[in-house]
Amino acid sequence: MIRIEGFTKKYGEKTAVQNFNLHVEKGDIFGFIGPNGAGKTTTIRFLATLLKPTAGEGWINNFSVIHAPMDVRRSMGYMPDSFGVYEGMRVWEYLDFFAAAYNIKRDKRKKIIRDVIELLDLTNKKDDFVEGLSRGMKQRLCLAKTLVHDPAVLILDEPASGLDPRARHYIKELLKELQKMGKTIFISSHILSELADCCNKIGIIEQGVLLAAGEIKKIMGQIRESMILEIEMLEPNPRLEIILWDQPGVKNVEPMGQVTRVEFVGDIREIPQIHKTLIEKGIDILFFREHPADLEEVFMKVTKGEVA
Ligand SMILES: Nc1ncnc2c1ncn2[C@@H]1O[C@H](COP(=O)(O)OP(=O)(O)OP(=O)(O)O)[C@@H](O)[C@H]1O
Ligand SMILES: [Mg+2]
Repeated sequence: MIRIEGFTKKYGEKTAVQNFNLHVEKGDIFGFIGPNGAGKTTTIRFLATLLKPTAGEGWINNFSVIHAPMDVRRSMGYMPDSFGVYEGMRVWEYLDFFAAAYNIKRDKRKKIIRDVIELLDLTNKKDDFVEGLSRGMKQRLCLAKTLVHDPAVLILDEPASGLDPRARHYIKELLKELQKMGKTIFISSHILSELADCCNKIGIIEQGVLLAAGEIKKIMGQIRESMILEIEMLEPNPRLEIILWDQPGVKNVEPMGQVTRVEFVGDIREIPQIHKTLIEKGIDILFFREHPADLEEVFMKVTKGEVA
């Protein structure tokens, strides 16, 4: 759905992005992660047909970003990292303006605008002036704008930046909803945990170089040498720690009240046996689960060059 080959962008002497290759498939939510100045916006603007590359090619929906930019624009909804100035325009007029720009006929525009306003929960703001909206509402409106021509691909440059936790949660839920509708989503952020539970793939970029990309679970797996298991009981039980130390692959045991954390470095196939042993030895387990890797930790490791 999205393909980039050999994308390089230089600004004078400075290389902003170097030989970037990526493949995002239909239905993916791809999280594009990197610190400030890493090259996220540069890559996104290239995909959005707004930036001429120094070298390389890109395709969206099988249309070339360079040779068929109009087809690319029709296939894609792009949300830039900054919201423009739209003075004296009401919410519905703003959406109507963009829908008209996509050559959607007037009679069809009405229904589309009603639908996206409803989807983005902006119904009671539809007659408000755009410049009077809060930041969160503006981001929502900007996202609504990317949907008016029903594109197959959404390219969102930090859609949740500067939003409060509730608004960020709302955007995440919305992305999942859009994925269910069959959209392919490319979303950038420097807030790592923000992307952890809504993306199935991630790419990590630093200083213009894509350091790692692929299934989120795979990348986490490559990076972590060990797995953390959490065992929760109704009441703390000191016997648990003693039993755990005797199990294969257990590197560390950390009792934390009702919850005990176990650092496990063995073969994953040994885990069911540990579970069984605990039950046989009379430990009343409330929950037995993996403690998910922290994306922040993954990111720090990758950008420190620990993983190629
Ligand atoms: N128009 C430009 N002229 C010169 N240098 C630029 C230009 N645009 C970007 N750069 C440089 O290219 C590099 C990548 O910038 P880019 O905006 O793509 O980063 P980013 O990952 O989006 O960062 P942020 O998280 O701050 O948005 C930076 O070093 C930046 O200074
Ligand atoms: Mg940026």
